[in-house]
Amino acid sequence: MSFLRRDRIELKTPDQIRKMRDSGLVTAAALAAAREALIPGAVPSAVDAAAESVIRAAGAAPNFLGYNGYPASVCFSVNEVVVHGIPGSQALRPGDVVSVDCGAVLDGWHSDSAITVGAGELDARSELLIAVTKRALWDGIAAFAKADFVGEIGCAIEASVQESEPSFGILRDYVGHGIGSAMHMEPDVVNFASRERGPRVRPGMVLAIEPMVVEGSIATSIDADGWTVRTVDASRAAHWEHTVARTSGGIWVLTEPDGGAAELAARGIEIAPL
Ligand code: MF3
Ligand code: CO
Repeated sequence: MSFLRRDRIELKTPDQIRKMRDSGLVTAAALAAAREALIPGAVPSAVDAAAESVIRAAGAAPNFLGYNGYPASVCFSVNEVVVHGIPGSQALRPGDVVSVDCGAVLDGWHSDSAITVGAGELDARSELLIAVTKRALWDGIAAFAKADFVGEIGCAIEASVQESEPSFGILRDYVGHGIGSAMHMEPDVVNFASRERGPRVRPGMVLAIEPMVVEGSIATSIDADGWTVRTVDASRAAHWEHTVARTSGGIWVLTEPDGGAAELAARGIEIAPL
């Protein structure tokens, strides 16, 4: 019943998208602070505290903290942990592949973004994994700029990974999502080509697009902590995410300080701020 599904999607006014942008810039600042700290010897719980203080200093709140009982402000996922790792006391080692996922709520509006970087020097395969995943995110965002249906985003992400490195896998058990007055909303945004074209894209739609790519098998398990998602074969993973608004004139990447201008220009797309 696609008309029922469509009606559950929250479409934002231009004013609401500007408020989501304010939230998105807080998340971007928190991630920038985290990124600076991601060096060998860094302690994940300290990086979490640094990100939280940036969020609170901006008058916002961390939206992950307390979400279904989640105990931190960021997710900190190292090497074979794909997503939802809890920042702990184990210091980063040289060559670790580190994903930090972070979000904020400001004036009731949510944002959500993730990066993956190396602690110190990485081996070439890990560098490739990170680059392929980041490129897939931006190719997915570029698809959203022109898409008639949400499913086109996953098609673009899968095609991007296939073209870059066909041996890498794209997680199917975890997907992107609508976002706005709550962090996780309709619709699901899958990261692969599906027979289902998904709901129609409309101005005011805001999506968190977040490909998760692994070096090996896409099979995952969840630790006894109820959160930590890791690959069953212990292969490494990368995760990149942005909160992106479709406007009447195009798109605007709300969690990127330049709105996505640079990455999208490289794909022949101009951003359309409100
Ligand atoms: N970006 C993550 C996601 O969309 C947010 C996880 S919040 C948590 O899955 F609290 F559940 F960790
Ligand atoms: Co998300």
